[in-house]
Amino acid sequence: MKFLAGLGLILYGVANQSSAFAFTARPAFGAKQFRHHLASGLQAVGVETLGIVGGGTVGGGIVEILENNRELFTKMTGKEINVARLAVKDLSKARDFDTPSSTTVSDNFEDILDDGSIDTVVEVMGGTSLAKDVVIKSLKSGKNVVTANKALIADCLVEIENTVIEVNAARGEGESPVEFRYEAAVCGGIPIISSLQGDFVGDEITMCTGIINGCTNYMLTEMDKNGLSYEESLKGASELGYAEADPTLDVGGFDARSKLKILMRLAFGIDVEEDEISCKGIPELTKEDFEYAAMLGGTIKLTGVAKKISDSEVAAFVSPTYLDNGDTLASISGATNAVEIQSKNLVRSTYTGQGAGRYPTANSCINDIIKVARGDINPLPFNSKGPASLKFVNDFKSKFYIRMRYRDQNGITKDCGNLCEENDIGIYSILQNPIKNRNDACFVLMTDSVKLSQVKKFVAQIEGKDWCKGDVFFMPMLRDEDL
Ligand code: NAP
Ligand code: HSE
Repeated sequence: MKFLAGLGLILYGVANQSSAFAFTARPAFGAKQFRHHLASGLQAVGVETLGIVGGGTVGGGIVEILENNRELFTKMTGKEINVARLAVKDLSKARDFDTPSSTTVSDNFEDILDDGSIDTVVEVMGGTSLAKDVVIKSLKSGKNVVTANKALIADCLVEIENTVIEVNAARGEGESPVEFRYEAAVCGGIPIISSLQGDFVGDEITMCTGIINGCTNYMLTEMDKNGLSYEESLKGASELGYAEADPTLDVGGFDARSKLKILMRLAFGIDVEEDEISCKGIPELTKEDFEYAAMLGGTIKLTGVAKKISDSEVAAFVSPTYLDNGDTLASISGATNAVEIQSKNLVRSTYTGQGAGRYPTANSCINDIIKVARGDINPLPFNSKGPASLKFVNDFKSKFYIRMRYRDQNGITKDCGNLCEENDIGIYSILQNPIKNRNDACFVLMTDSVKLSQVKKFVAQIEGKDWCKGDVFFMPMLRDEDL
């Protein structure tokens, strides 16, 4: 980090003059700000020089919040925080935020990597290939990194952590360590990452349950409360900007799975291959599922769940789940996110708020930037209790809700009963509305607490019966004695 005493000059160099349109030399600190600083008792004034890669939804929010809080942030950090460079893809695109006149805007992010005056790189362009280069190269050249990129973190967190360790081990005496922060990568505005890194140090997390995709939570709320169809609710979510560019990532549960994988690293210290985590999205849900859920006194939410199931094992899944209406998570509606942590000391704590959007997400990036500028050091990259011995198992026990469509005939419940007995599955309850159409009816079987693997086997056998129509849908019930 570079500290300048009093007034100093920063020269903003331009590596690629053809694609950059600002070149300026100006005092690092205005006289008024400097007087204010002296008056506040601070002896030295520093500068934190930022390079932001990405000037879209999140990047624009970061620039705006920095500009609007310039004096406050200087007071908080003892430094002037300057966005020296901003990289975007298309320089001709109109921006919905003002870029400070002293910021050099370019369409070549290498300008930021090559600029030795930059202390901290803020990566908010997204993607996993170029963004990975930006993050790794920045760290290797001794720059701090702040990112909002969940796809990158889900893919490469361990590699990035190792890079940070290597870089810091090689730093000379008196050099401050490089910092890597990614608060915005999971649940946008909710400070869940710093909570997991810093607030459970003497605790042991046993379960992490999240409504961690705003798009699908909005859709399920609309389907349940307002009777919208799947298609209508997806259209609404896209129009409101909740959906990813490829909404399959949302509705298929994959976005939630990326976030769950990151939460598992933080909560349990384990690194799981993302596609080993069972993932079921919401497209199979029907109106009848909400009707049956209502009959049971609850609703359906897409949740990501990771749970310690023994001293050495953690199970996890992303799936629609049944929740009683009295459950705190059942009340999380619209695009709001929530993460519930169960732990030995704190017992149960829930973190809720906006999981996406310009200002909630930029807010998390700003918190990271301020912490870095202040010289805060992460107390723990992840919860360190037992990571060496914990392993991931792709199976878990729960009560399950199993919905079957059928062509009516005698002996269907007998078939189900026989197959349950064969698979050692206890029946907890059977729900069926009066049949309206004998060619296309459905009923629900709820199991006692059994393993996912038993349910999958049972379902495959049911799907082989001539009376069964289409795929059988199943989901866990969130609160039973095992889950
Ligand atoms: P966005 O609006 O699409 O902005 C991306 C920005 O990156 C654009 O300004 C784009 O330039 C720029 N860019 C793309 N490729 C580039 C390249 N090769 N070189 C330089 N700049 C490049 O995306 P966003 O919504 O801000 O999301 C940014 C990151 O935050 C993503 O990783 C996302 O997953 C994460 N995030 C977003 C939210 C949210 O609510 N939006 C929430 C949590 C996390 P142009 O503008 O010129 O095209
Ligand atoms: N599509 C994501 C969501 C955006 O709905 O949660 C934030 O990651």
